Amino acid sequence: MASRSFRRAASAATAVLIVLGAAPSASAFGGPPAGHGTTLRKLAARQDLRIGTAVDTAALASDDRYRTLTARQFDSVTAENVMKWEAVEPERGVYDWAAADALVNFAQHNGQAVRGHTLLWHNQLPAWLTQGVADGSIDAAELRQVLRAHITTQMKHFRGKIYQWDVVNEVFDEDGTLRKSLWLEKLGPSYIADAFRWAHAADPQAKLFFNDYNVEGINPKSTAYYDLAVRLRREGVPVHGFGIQGHLDIGYGFPSDVQANLERFAGLGMQSAFTEVDIRMTLPADAAKLARQADDYRRLLDACLNVRRCTSFTVWGFTDKYSWVPDTFDGQGAANLMDEEYAAKPAFEAVRDELAERRRR
Ligand code: G3I
Repeated sequence: MASRSFRRAASAATAVLIVLGAAPSASAFGGPPAGHGTTLRKLAARQDLRIGTAVDTAALASDDRYRTLTARQFDSVTAENVMKWEAVEPERGVYDWAAADALVNFAQHNGQAVRGHTLLWHNQLPAWLTQGVADGSIDAAELRQVLRAHITTQMKHFRGKIYQWDVVNEVFDEDGTLRKSLWLEKLGPSYIADAFRWAHAADPQAKLFFNDYNVEGINPKSTAYYDLAVRLRREGVPVHGFGIQGHLDIGYGFPSDVQANLERFAGLGMQSAFTEVDIRMTLPADAAKLARQADDYRRLLDACLNVRRCTSFTVWGFTDKYSWVPDTFDGQGAANLMDEEYAAKPAFEAVRDELAERRRR
């Protein structure tokens, strides 16, 4: 385990590289043809939609072309990892926001909004927390205090700089029952409402979201979020939006009722967002697979454009060069809009053309 001072130095170095590495002129590194003589962010702005990408901050610091395209094509960014609990509070009460702040500074420098990801999850928790719960040195009462302190500190640090927060991430199982995480087992179901109330108290301007995968269509899992949203909002809990990750696989059918799903949350007065879209395939990629992928990207975006309260569409990285997919799904990949060489894939062109040719209702 790297020493604290080493970790901080490395994190600070990354931060400096990101801020100093101001995006060179767009033409310096080419990138996919803008098409229609413009970029995704300019086309999306005409549709009153934010188009975003998750950002690998190490790549942002080291890869000029990645940095240029991140700034040029997107008007919203999400930290892929550096705002997660293990990254910002590696030691209890000791925060390291260097990499996260560098991304926020990059976004502000490039006129981009920032999605906050994520205040509460069952993954990527710091070892002091998981070990403390496991060995009993952190009991339920103390865990609740730890959670409240983390949410409050994190939200106050980024207050006014983040427009949408994924407050709780992946809290339901596929069958619509609550995930049996340490949060549920130790604190009971009230931890969810507590998280939203604490987040709102710390930054009343931020829009607070649920976020999960396999909730693109209407199914037991997405309906569990819908029912919980109805109940919490009736109790005055500040739940503002529903984040749909959108991690799809062309090997499965396209989810049904995507637009109807968005519309039912809109019917509650809630925003929705696609927060982590990537559409993987079994390698090698070929023309037919890439065409199916392009159509699936287009269909998700189309559903969002058809529902005014769908406010942002974020891809989980835009180039196959840095995708999480190959490390997680053996034999799969090619999930993003551009390939490893930053060439536009049919999916990029489908998103671009959908943004260019639609007229949002
Ligand atoms: O930071 C360590 C580094 O010190 C170490 O040297 C290196 C090699 O072991 O690992 C680094 O940690 C990695 C971390 O990303 C930061 O890069 C973890 O191993 C790796 O498992 C982790 O993967 C992330 C994954 O969440 C963790 O579950 C992916 O990059 C990230 O794309 C993915 O994102 C999630 C969303 O947050 C929530 N929705 C699902 C999505 C995909 O799983």
